[in-house]
Amino acid sequence: RGQYRVVVIGSGNWGSVAAKLIASNTIKQPIFYDEVWMWVYEETLHTGEKLSEVINQTNENVKYLPGIKLGNNVIADPDLENAVKEANMLVFVTPHQFVAGICKRLVGKIRPGTEAISLIKGMEVKMEGPFMISKLITDMLGINCCVLMGANIANEIAVEKFSEATVGYRQDKEVAQRWARLFSTPYFLVSIVQDVEGVELCGTLKNVVAIAAGLVDGLDMGNNTKAAIMRIGLREMRAFSKLLFSSVRDSTFFESCGVADLITTCLGGRNRKVSEAFARSGGKRSFDELEAELLQGQKLQGVSTAKEVYEVLSHRGWQGLFPLFTTVHEICIGQLPPSAIVEYSEHTPNFS
Ligand code: NAD
Ligand code: 13P
Repeated sequence: RGQYRVVVIGSGNWGSVAAKLIASNTIKQPIFYDEVWMWVYEETLHTGEKLSEVINQTNENVKYLPGIKLGNNVIADPDLENAVKEANMLVFVTPHQFVAGICKRLVGKIRPGTEAISLIKGMEVKMEGPFMISKLITDMLGINCCVLMGANIANEIAVEKFSEATVGYRQDKEVAQRWARLFSTPYFLVSIVQDVEGVELCGTLKNVVAIAAGLVDGLDMGNNTKAAIMRIGLREMRAFSKLLFSSVRDSTFFESCGVADLITTCLGGRNRKVSEAFARSGGKRSFDELEAELLQGQKLQGVSTAKEVYEVLSHRGWQGLFPLFTTVHEICIGQLPPSAIVEYSEHTPNFS
């Protein structure tokens, strides 16, 4: 019993829900060790208490997922090295900007034979080119890394409303099936596809489209315009993914990680919400300020992803091919007004 021990690295909104999902399965399936460790980036709450201590006392993440019991077999641990010490299944789920720092601290601390999965939507741009987060984890820690992406607004899954997700894997189907087993519940259906880059790029790039959709909402442009922006965005997502990785499959865009995640994020996500407020302020208030005010410690991924995508586009001379991605970044940095989002949609190039 307990061949596999799981640690969740991250305890934000989605991290906490992931721990809850996983813990509901480890307790039922003998191949997994019952207890699920959850690394908490420690912070002091306004009451003066430590977040990790309050999670262990109340079984709730009072800051990032209030009102939801995580399961008594979830153990919050603020000590990263201690949290991973016994684990052989690592679930990475932090905002993407923190992953490289976390991996640096984990070098040499991972058990042999460990597998990882990333639930993180984002990428890093280095001198050598764009790096997907799963690749960063693989390169820094020398371990295989699958990804799990999908139409997964965490607060909805927390209250067990039905949704789907996609696991992307490189080669080892059995490992992907084990991850699917760890996450699947009757209200959370997980499929596996052999297209790790395609799945991860879907999850990453839809956050840029969500910023565009939020701008349309803030400009009161209506549903048809928003649908047009989503369609153009999806087309740029596919074209960009295929230019970076020729192995990316068209069918991946029809999985939960593709069109479904794009829709849910453009309707109900945090990127959309903050971007709407930005457009309503006429571009006068910054995304950073609005993020802090509206999300209370939760993090946006779309603005930094737009910048990362822009760096790739300008470095490769592809800006003309991706008017929506380019425009989103230029609006975010104040170079163009929010209204530019629709003006630029008119001359979308034909990728076919
Ligand atoms: P979050 O945005 O709710 O919370 C931010 C987290 O970052 C907190 O846990 C905070 O403690 C932590 N943090 C702050 N500073 C840090 C630092 N210096 N080092 C390490 N951690 C630090 O987090 P989330 O919603 O769990 O998002 C994690 C990933 O999951 C993101 O890539 C996001 O796109 C993705 N995701 C989120 C949702 C969702 O609905 N929330 C759904 C699917 C995927
Ligand atoms: P937001 O970060 O915009 O809330 O999107 C959440 C998400 O990725 C849903 O699948």
